[in-house]
Amino acid sequence: MKKTVALTADRPTGKLHLGHFVGSLKNRIELQHECDQYIMIADTQAFTDYFEQPQLVIDNVLEVAADYLAVGLDPNLSTIFIQSRIPQLCELTMYYMNLVSVARLQRNPTVKAELVHKNFGPSVPVGFLCYPVSQAADITAFGTEIVPVGEDQLPMLEQTNEIVRRFNRIYNTNCLKEAHARLGKTKRLTGIDGKAKASKSLNNAIFLSDAPGVIKEKVYAMFTDPHHLKVSDHGRVKGNVVFEYLDAFYDNAEELSSLKAQYKKGGLGDITLKSLLNDTLQELLLPIREKRSHLSRKNLLEICMDGTQKAETVAKMTLNEVKKSMGINYF
Ligand code: TRP
Repeated sequence: MKKTVALTADRPTGKLHLGHFVGSLKNRIELQHECDQYIMIADTQAFTDYFEQPQLVIDNVLEVAADYLAVGLDPNLSTIFIQSRIPQLCELTMYYMNLVSVARLQRNPTVKAELVHKNFGPSVPVGFLCYPVSQAADITAFGTEIVPVGEDQLPMLEQTNEIVRRFNRIYNTNCLKEAHARLGKTKRLTGIDGKAKASKSLNNAIFLSDAPGVIKEKVYAMFTDPHHLKVSDHGRVKGNVVFEYLDAFYDNAEELSSLKAQYKKGGLGDITLKSLLNDTLQELLLPIREKRSHLSRKNLLEICMDGTQKAETVAKMTLNEVKKSMGINYF
């Protein structure tokens, strides 16, 4: 029986961190047994932001691939590929651009927030404004049915499905498929500063490839409860990053709930908790780092090349269908 097609992607603008691990990687490790899974290293899309820093993108393509393999994504089960090596995605984007208005792109809530944040005004680059259209190309090129993403990506899916419906109606076809989101159970992980979500740009994330000393340093620098000064003080669990991470990574739920009770009551110090979290994360990340260290550049390139070749074959078939539907299959 044909398996359901799933597709996700990451922009290669940094190594992957624990936020990616709980937010998407864990999901994908499970999905690869269930679905025909495509995982795209979105370098083309990264250029919509970082076109002036090409080296940053280039350097992180294989770093992200290494993170994928290190956490247990299996190239025999998941097709890992590089976006810029699939020219069919650009071609699809070109045809889809006719089906979307500038106003609609400006109204896309994710884009809208980014436009404000980056303070572009009328000088917004066309490439940036159109990235949801290129994302529609990524999704449809592989006959994707489910996109396991976070809530911030929902507007992208809505936009994709609008393009799909419009294309199918105008060209009287059903060659493009609508895709559905599968939202993860976990909410996004907070950064060690407790102020914002963990991210590379805010420098508040623990990376999967961090050395043991760095992990420890970050855990001990974590935001807890600023009013919990003495061990005997009452402590707050809510908004306490150490507890949030223990919730996400510490398996013994029973013990964790008794630690929470003790912390609230007073009598449990931050250092004890941080030491427990440090042990937990060291244990989680050791095999990942170990596996990462055995991956050579040649290895990684080969895996990306194989995946890209497979992805290109599928994208080519979709593009052929698309062009046939449009009637531009002249010869
Ligand atoms: N926009 C996504 C991100 O920033 C990356 C992405 C590109 C993507 N193409 C996609 C995600 C297609 C899902 C489907 O992480």
